[in-house]
Amino acid sequence: MAVALIAHGGAGKWRPGSDDDAVAGLADAVEAGRRVLLAGGSSLDAVCETVVRLEDNPIYNAGTGAVLNFDGFCELDASVMESRESRAGAVSGLQRVKNPVLVARKVMEETDHVMLTGDGAQRFARVMGFPDHDPVTPARRADWMDKRNRVDEILGQRALKMRKFLQEHPEYAGGTVGAAAVDSRGVLAAATSTGGVTLKMVGRVGDSPVPGAGNYADVRMAASATGTGEFVLRSLATRAIAERMGQGEALEQALEAVLAQLGRDYDADVGLIAVDAAGTPVARHRTRDMPHAWFSGEGPVASRMRVPPA
Ligand code: GLY
Repeated sequence: MAVALIAHGGAGKWRPGSDDDAVAGLADAVEAGRRVLLAGGSSLDAVCETVVRLEDNPIYNAGTGAVLNFDGFCELDASVMESRESRAGAVSGLQRVKNPVLVARKVMEETDHVMLTGDGAQRFARVMGFPDHDPVTPARRADWMDKRNRVDEILGQRALKMRKFLQEHPEYAGGTVGAAAVDSRGVLAAATSTGGVTLKMVGRVGDSPVPGAGNYADVRMAASATGTGEFVLRSLATRAIAERMGQGEALEQALEAVLAQLGRDYDADVGLIAVDAAGTPVARHRTRDMPHAWFSGEGPVASRMRVPPA
């Protein structure tokens, strides 16, 4: 069977000058996942390897370098899902761990649960051997200070409702990472990891750890979503792609239809990547940018900042 993998580094708007680094980081991460698949490894191993590389790269909003919440610390969300038995594992609001995606995988493999949150997730991570790690980088701290000051100026007492502000400042959202893959046994898997949205309320959980919203895999496809998570949660976007495929649509058609619906319903600033069981990778987004990289079969890794207009 044809192996394939696709990964994204977040739908949004990249700072001028950082485009090349964002695309190169995706290409490196997908190359790591490609090596796993070509050596006969599982799609789950491949998406985890890819996402770990992206979590460890501080330019993305996941793991080290994740954005800070309103109070100035990181709360990390991540999940994995595999088509075999529809297995899923997730963490939300997890603090002080280097690779949340690997903790999510442990939840799937070592517990009867699907998601652990907050203190419980952190305690579980420590029991599983994940040491204390501060994901806050000096660059993100400085960025938070700047944005926090300006939010107070712009929103004043209305800081709990940030939707309009985020629409006007797309650079405040974005940077979530995710990967989807199919392996030589035809098993599909997806993994997604994020710090969420800059200046989010403490305790806010986005779409990334929720199966069927920010991350999903079944026997037809595996997908990861990015962008403002509330829209992805409300639409269960990745699951919606699978349902359309169940009604006979091809992956590209199904993904485009779900994205178009997100546009009609919410004018949502989101992006989606997915791969089907035949090894077809697809990426689309409603934001200016969504760095992504992919490979299929014997082909090399390709990467770019955005999907060109049709
Ligand atoms: N899509 C990431 C988030 O909204 O948390």
